Parts: sequence; C-alpha cells; structure tokens
Amino acid sequence: MLIEKMMTSDGVVFATPNYSYQVSAIMKMFLDRLGFVFHRPRFFGKTFTSIVAQGIYGGSKVVKYLDFVGMGLGFNVVKGSCTTALDPMSEKEREKIDSIVAGHSKRFHAGLSQPQYPVPAFFKLWAFRAARTSIRVMLDETSRDFTYYRDKGWFEADYFYPTRLGVLKKATGSLVDSITARMTSNRES
Ligand SMILES: Cc1cc2nc3c(=O)[nH]c(=O)nc-3n(C[C@H](O)[C@H](O)[C@H](O)COP(=O)(O)O)c2cc1C
Repeated sequence: MLIEKMMTSDGVVFATPNYSYQVSAIMKMFLDRLGFVFHRPRFFGKTFTSIVAQGIYGGSKVVKYLDFVGMGLGFNVVKGSCTTALDPMSEKEREKIDSIVAGHSKRFHAGLSQPQYPVPAFFKLWAFRAARTSIRVMLDETSRDFTYYRDKGWFEADYFYPTRLGVLKKATGSLVDSITARMTSNRES
C-alpha cells in the first residue's frame, strides 16, 4: 500500500525521531521491507526529502542516512532537516524549529519544480553503469534483478531513464562499463 502511494506521488517525505542515533525501529523495518528496491530502483522523477526530530544530538547523520536511502530508491533528493528540542520547548527553540521547517519547505517546493529527469551526476552515472554491468555479467534469468534490468532495457540504456549525456559523461559511462565487465568476469573465472 505504501509503495503504491509513493508511486502515485510527486513528492515523498520520510520522517522519524532520532532514537539512539538512528531512525526509529518502525522506520527501519519499513526501510528493510523496501530493501529490494535498492536492487530494483523505481521512484524516478519524484522528489524526496527527510525530517528528523530529536531531543539533543546526532540527528544530522540520520538525515544524511535517510537522504542516501532516498537516492538509492531512485528519488531526486532534496537535503533533509533535523529539529532539536526537549520538553518543555522554549519559545526560542520553537522559533528555530519554525525557521528550519520554513526553509526546508521552500527547498522541497523548489525541488518539486526542478526538471523531473535531470542529467545524472558522475557518481550516479557510475553507480548505474557499475550495477547494470555487474548484473548483466554475473547474473542470469533466474535472478529477479537480472530480469528487471533486462525488461526495463537498462542493459542497453545510458541511464535509468532517457537523458542526454555530454561527451565526457558518455565516455565515463563506457569506461565504467568496460572496467566493471573486466573486473566481474575476472572474479568469475
Ligand atoms: C529510545 C529513545 C532514544 C532516543 N535517542 C535520542 C538520541 O540519540 N538523540 C537525541 O537527540 N534524542 C534522542 N531521543 C529523544 C527523541 O529523539 C525526541 O524526544 C523525539 O522528539 C521523540 O519523538 P517521539 O515523541 O515521536 O517518540 C530518544 C528518545 C527515545 C525514546
């Protein structure tokens, strides 16, 4: 049900308290149930962000973690935010939280107005090419990852979605493909 909701949304927000320097247990269970999507990403063209609420300290790393998760799931990620306050909240703390939330809302709205299918950064291009080549070389039809990539046409594609790569990115993509193919076939032999 939640995957269906995310698939039909333009924007998705993952929110959690900071519990012992991590996401809550229920959020972690949700992420683990979504684990297969890291192998078979699908939330392209959708904007993602994260919110962490905490009492004292450690939430910035949780925001970073959730934003990385969002990227792995295929989303376009807008940097998340962390709010800090203990009960009872002071007026100053409330004002600070309001200001963080207002800035974050603006960023998220701006993210929703950006092109849905941006040209990938080098890191994302590298991750796609390395994954798709190792899946192509090392797996076969008995693997769900293999058939998913094959059926999406990703073994032949420049990237997860149609995009116009410049000369340098095209060359980098081909290089990553050939290095990955060589490394993975060496591993197999
Ligand atoms: C089990 C537990 C662990 C927590 N760990 C942290 C922590 O590591 N850092 C922190 O700043 N706050 C921590 N807190 C405080 C919560 O992040 C904070 O109170 C939050 O607003 C709680 O949200 P909730 O009311 O939805 O549970 C913890 C609270 C609980 C109950």
